Amino acid sequence: MLDLDRIPKHVGIIMDGNGRWAKAHMVPRVAGHNAGMKAMKEILKKAKTLGIEHLTVYAFSTENWKRTAEEISGIFSLLVKYVDSELKELNYNNVKVNILGDVSPLPEDALDRITKAVEDTKDNDGICFNICLNYGSRAEIVRAVKNMTGEITEENLSKHLYTGELGIPDPEVIIRTSGEERLSNFLMWQAAYSEFVFTDVLWPDFTPEEFERCIEEYQSRDRRFGGRK
Ligand code: IPE
Ligand code: IPE
Ligand code: MG
Repeated sequence: MLDLDRIPKHVGIIMDGNGRWAKAHMVPRVAGHNAGMKAMKEILKKAKTLGIEHLTVYAFSTENWKRTAEEISGIFSLLVKYVDSELKELNYNNVKVNILGDVSPLPEDALDRITKAVEDTKDNDGICFNICLNYGSRAEIVRAVKNMTGEITEENLSKHLYTGELGIPDPEVIIRTSGEERLSNFLMWQAAYSEFVFTDVLWPDFTPEEFERCIEEYQSRDRRFGGRK
């Protein structure tokens, strides 16, 4: 049973398996990403219901540019479609949208929509929906070091990461779907003491029930932070 008194404040999700889902359903990869977007909407709703304060999703990595131009433009077109169809509801639900990553190389229409989504939701104080776009931990750390002034400390470096700038705490738990068990350059610094929950479910098939099960699994872990009982 889920313990409602021990809901994590911040959950990170590596949404993986859209391509394999598409292959299994014999549809183009972009159709897999579209199905993944639908799953993402449901998980955001569930996260809000559970009282999670920050949901951070890995949507496009600094390495994902290695994919075909067709797939990349398909992903960003879906992002445009998502903002156009969801922004009103996000606002209605008091969701604050944050973006992590260097969005400057994104297609113009995608950049336009995410700028609008961030701007339009900036005063909301409900769940923070943090979307990682052209995000990579290594790039984030290099950027932080470049922007840092003053003493070199863990605290100061943390403040200059996207998460620090946006007031996002370290994730208590990181979920990765599709059976892969690696970080793929997601929140490496912030994950120093995160619990990892891996599930074989492909992202488009990831349901609110499976999400709840993953949170339950997190709650069953014994977190020691280097100390002892
Ligand atoms: C995750 O699904 C979405 C992105 C990385 C954009 P994939 O597209 O990586 O799906 P698989 O891993 O090929 O199945
Ligand atoms: C990680 O998935 C990135 C996102 C989910 C956006 P990938 O599918 O790109 O990662 P690898 O290549 O399997 O490590
Ligand atoms: Mg993948």
